[in-house]
Amino acid sequence: MSSWVACRASPSLALLKYWGKQEAGDNLPATPSLAVALGGLYTDTSVRLAEKDSLVVGGAPQDPGRSERFFECLRSRLEVSHRFEASSVNSFPTAAGLASSSSGFAALAAACARAAGREVPLEDLSAIARIGSVSAARSVFGGFVLLPAGAHSARQVFDASHWPDLRIVVAVTRRGSKPVSSRDAMRETSERSPFYRDWVSHSQALLPEALQALEKRDLEKLGDVVRTSYSMMHAVMLASRPPILYWLPATLAVIRACGELRARGVGAWETVDAGPQVKILCTVQDAELVTRHVRESAPGTETILCFPGDGVQPAFAAESAS
Ligand code: DP6
Repeated sequence: MSSWVACRASPSLALLKYWGKQEAGDNLPATPSLAVALGGLYTDTSVRLAEKDSLVVGGAPQDPGRSERFFECLRSRLEVSHRFEASSVNSFPTAAGLASSSSGFAALAAACARAAGREVPLEDLSAIARIGSVSAARSVFGGFVLLPAGAHSARQVFDASHWPDLRIVVAVTRRGSKPVSSRDAMRETSERSPFYRDWVSHSQALLPEALQALEKRDLEKLGDVVRTSYSMMHAVMLASRPPILYWLPATLAVIRACGELRARGVGAWETVDAGPQVKILCTVQDAELVTRHVRESAPGTETILCFPGDGVQPAFAAESAS
């Protein structure tokens, strides 16, 4: 048995959402996505060479079918025949709409490459991680990251130092996993929502606006596009037959709380992924106020303060995995 090696990655929060896959190709996104690495949250994945592939997340063995294709592509890209035993721990709730699959597959790809003794350019690592989960292509990079529609790899647009004052207040309205996985929900909406095609074409139009706002660090403009992107994505889901609704009363309470803050002149710009959690963009100066108002508006909601974080990196192998 080889020794354990480990890598750490942060979840990738989409400012512009990826939602839908291209019909042809191997897990390619139908829409462009622009994201920020959520510094402060992370997945640590330990890997060693083994007789067969396996993946355990937070102590729970995962369905091998979910990662089979990933391991096959990884071997072919790395030109190795090894099998990998992997154990992964999240510092935050798993499969709850906090993008654990983005950090999970990014850390897994990097740790497997290390275990196999391969130096892999980030662009290639991103393409490998994408096979596991499209959003994982972005988690390989730190700072602000773009994954164009149809692209195999993501790329960094700005590193984390571009916007050191930006904060993301993550409002966890409910721990525990979501009722429908984003993969299933995405497939259902692309087949059953009459708005899906419009979403794919409109999402493209948001990109230049978002990139410009990001370049200028214009929170108000960026926040406006961010809100449009997530609202359109959820509208597509709501129009699906049967409708898919991830929001809870607390989700809506936090969204409303952000509106109240903006009405008072405080920049609080929310986004919601495939789950009940809300992530709020604000400045470091406003972070405390935003946190307080969110907690008062949705009692029981936990908050985590994040910042633009780093890309995938080596970590210490977890004790539990040795
Ligand atoms: C709503 O990357 O988890 O978080 O590629 O099927 O694994 P698969 O989906 P995944 O979907 C993420 C969807 C999203 C938006 C985003 O992160 O861009």
